[in-house]
Amino acid sequence: MSTDHYTPEAQEEAPLGVPHDGLPGVPKRSSWSGKWGFILAAAASAVGLGNLWRFPYLAAKYGGGIFLLVYIVLVVTFGFSLMMAETALGRKTGQSAIGAFSALSKKWKFVGILASIVPFIITPYYAIIGGWVTKYMVSYIVTPAAEIADGGFFTGFILMNPETYLYLIVFLLIVYLVVALGVNKGIENVNKVLMPALIIMSIGISVYALTLPGAIDGVAFYLIPDFSKFSAELVLGAMGQMFYSLSLAMGIMITYGSYFSKEHDLEHSVRRIEVFDTGIAILAGFMIIPVSFAVLGGGEAVMTHAGPGLMFGILPTVFDSLGAAGPILGFLFFALVFFAALTSCISLFETCTSIVADGFHLRRKFSILIAGVFIMVVGIFVNMGYDNLLWMDPMYTLFGIGEYQNSQLLDFFDFLSNTILMPIVALLTCIFIGYVVKPKAIIDEVKISSKFNGEKLFVVMIKYIAPVLLAVILVAYVLNTAGVIAI
Ligand code: PHE
Repeated sequence: MSTDHYTPEAQEEAPLGVPHDGLPGVPKRSSWSGKWGFILAAAASAVGLGNLWRFPYLAAKYGGGIFLLVYIVLVVTFGFSLMMAETALGRKTGQSAIGAFSALSKKWKFVGILASIVPFIITPYYAIIGGWVTKYMVSYIVTPAAEIADGGFFTGFILMNPETYLYLIVFLLIVYLVVALGVNKGIENVNKVLMPALIIMSIGISVYALTLPGAIDGVAFYLIPDFSKFSAELVLGAMGQMFYSLSLAMGIMITYGSYFSKEHDLEHSVRRIEVFDTGIAILAGFMIIPVSFAVLGGGEAVMTHAGPGLMFGILPTVFDSLGAAGPILGFLFFALVFFAALTSCISLFETCTSIVADGFHLRRKFSILIAGVFIMVVGIFVNMGYDNLLWMDPMYTLFGIGEYQNSQLLDFFDFLSNTILMPIVALLTCIFIGYVVKPKAIIDEVKISSKFNGEKLFVVMIKYIAPVLLAVILVAYVLNTAGVIAI
């Protein structure tokens, strides 16, 4: 067996403490079957609900082309540097987040712990939304489009409805099954089918959308920059989106880097992931904005509805008005969202599993069991926020702002991970790499397998620009949540 291509089965059998090619004394672990296994898995993790339900909304809100421009610049500079740092850290240490940080400095182990908390918070609620998406995908087969478009359909489904638990559990069981099959047989094989399907469906739906009368106005609105919309708020919005969309600051890329062979080119792979993720986000805009122009006569509906409101409210109305094509398009669209959410959730759960395995020195099977039970229990608890625990209003209780009245547990979990923990973890990661271990440690790791074209950019971003931008994001988000400023 080559030292490079461990199979998950081999890992199962491997006694603990067998040297890995990263650090001595680290148990053998699974690895991608090649560079593309890694690229696809990271892209599968990145492309998710964020691309499909938030990116088009932000683009519509912030002047179309100008937002796209700012977003792309941020991805190729800021996003690139953080992603390089995380993947190289993982590959260097051969460990998931906690082990990776503590391998380089015991004092900084806490950053690994903070990063590791994030997937345990996100996975339960991401799976709940995955359940909603599954419900909509099924509904376009069995329920008339007009009924799905009715305002009461969504709330009737999510509130006080035992069916939501069923969808949550089914969604999670699919995720567990894929992860249990292992890194190669499960995750890689699923991605090989789902990711190309996702790209083809996105292109297909976008092309169809462009043929609708009036759609071209939507394209103009989407692509032509409205420079008057440029603002600090736009940059902040783009930055937060980029962060979440690339799945940074939660240990995922560290874990995935730890499965990456020392032979393959890291920089090239990271660039491919960026293209994938940003490409699908831009396509999502082509799917949603022109259709809204064609059917609703303008971009206001997209501009004012982020997240669930857009996906489960506005889009079903749009599909309903497309006649016979509506249910087909509705089904295809939700199947696409389902694939995107599923692959993201698989990557979240794989990270949870690897954190448990590395943290407690457990075999993969036991780690899946422990992480699986934990996520299921927390998922059911968060889902009760729409049911028996509907009276709970954590965000309103915390901040007392009218806007948060009737917020649910899910919103609170989302706030904890995205607004608080992720910017903190990213900021500390930059400080750790920039000033504690020094960028050279990462640069040397990258250079084991290739040249590092973006070396200078990387150093400047990690040491100076990224920490400042991150501190601004953090403060601005918290002030925004507390109602002091509005972004
Ligand atoms: N990047 C995913 C998205 O855009 C979300 C995600 C976050 C996935 C964290 C995995 C981990 O929806």
